[in-house]
Amino acid sequence: MFSRITGTGSFLPGAPVSNDDLARRGIDTNDDWIRGRTGIRFRHLADTGQTASDLGFEASRRALDAAGLQASDLDLIIVATSTPDFIFPSTACLLQGKLGNHGATAFDVQAVCSGFVFALTIAEKFIRSGSHRRALVVGAEVFSRILDWNDRGTCVLFGDGAGAVIVEASDTPGILSTALHADGAHHGILSVPGSVCGGKVTGDPFLRMDGQAVFKFAVRVLSEVAAECCDAAGIASSEVDWLIPHQANIRILEATARKVKMPMDKVIVTVDRHGNTSAASVPLALDEAVRDGRVRSGQKVLLEGVGGGFTWGAVVVEM
Ligand code: ACO
Repeated sequence: MFSRITGTGSFLPGAPVSNDDLARRGIDTNDDWIRGRTGIRFRHLADTGQTASDLGFEASRRALDAAGLQASDLDLIIVATSTPDFIFPSTACLLQGKLGNHGATAFDVQAVCSGFVFALTIAEKFIRSGSHRRALVVGAEVFSRILDWNDRGTCVLFGDGAGAVIVEASDTPGILSTALHADGAHHGILSVPGSVCGGKVTGDPFLRMDGQAVFKFAVRVLSEVAAECCDAAGIASSEVDWLIPHQANIRILEATARKVKMPMDKVIVTVDRHGNTSAASVPLALDEAVRDGRVRSGQKVLLEGVGGGFTWGAVVVEM
């Protein structure tokens, strides 16, 4: 039993917000600094009433349409998010309710910006075990809710959005290999170190980051896990048609591509227009590249995530 990606979808809320728009909103920043340091030109920001499950719903509808399935056909729904609608129920259950699916296994995965790669790997293992046949895997985030808009070093980096894929049981291989890792010793370099306790927020409810430490860590583990996952799939990195890394920062993408010896014209880049959408970034980029015809059936795609925890992982997929 194998598993294949049979449909993709994505959704971005509202109109693009430019770097100049952020400066006009009173953030002490400018287009030159943001573009030069990160490659980001635009991001999308959800309205106050829009939640991760709302964005995930739109992306899921598109992925279901692409796969030619109804929500009732799904027997597994996994949502990767660090910005859930509620503490509970899970965003996956809320999404399930909105889609009108009754009875599928549904749960959230929390691995921050690696969340989608973790969720896709879990779906693959459920399907290969024979227990499930049709999975919806979603990355959905409203990071704008956990940003300190007075911290110009972080608030300019992120955006909101959702991406989704349908994964189905198949007689022929689709997902060729997976690799997941974490090292909690590095939890302090990227975190939202707060919680709700006794009706109050305790600690700090905003994203905090040591940017330079994150940068170095991300480049190292993204190149290591790319090699590990290609080895596990029995392919050389030169056989990969497209690299889709987590879209944190164009300089991280370029440094990773250099280390894994892939030219930038084989790297799908959306960070310039989406910013960093955490768990949504990889499925958003995959869907964009499928819909614009770059990623085609039969091609090999290397998906990579890295994020708070620290967590990192990769999946090699034959589309
Ligand atoms: N606009 C203008 N100036 C700014 C801004 C801003 N938005 N933010 C910071 N600055 C200023 C600082 O105040 C500082 O000024 P000073 O020298 O007068 O004190 C100067 O720019 C340099 O600040 P640094 O924080 O040292 O800038 P650095 O060169 O490290 O770049 C950055 C920061 C872009 C965050 C970089 O460290 C980076 O790319 N890190 C990777 C982190 C990342 O991408 N995280 C995403 C989440 S993690 C993930 O998804 C895996």
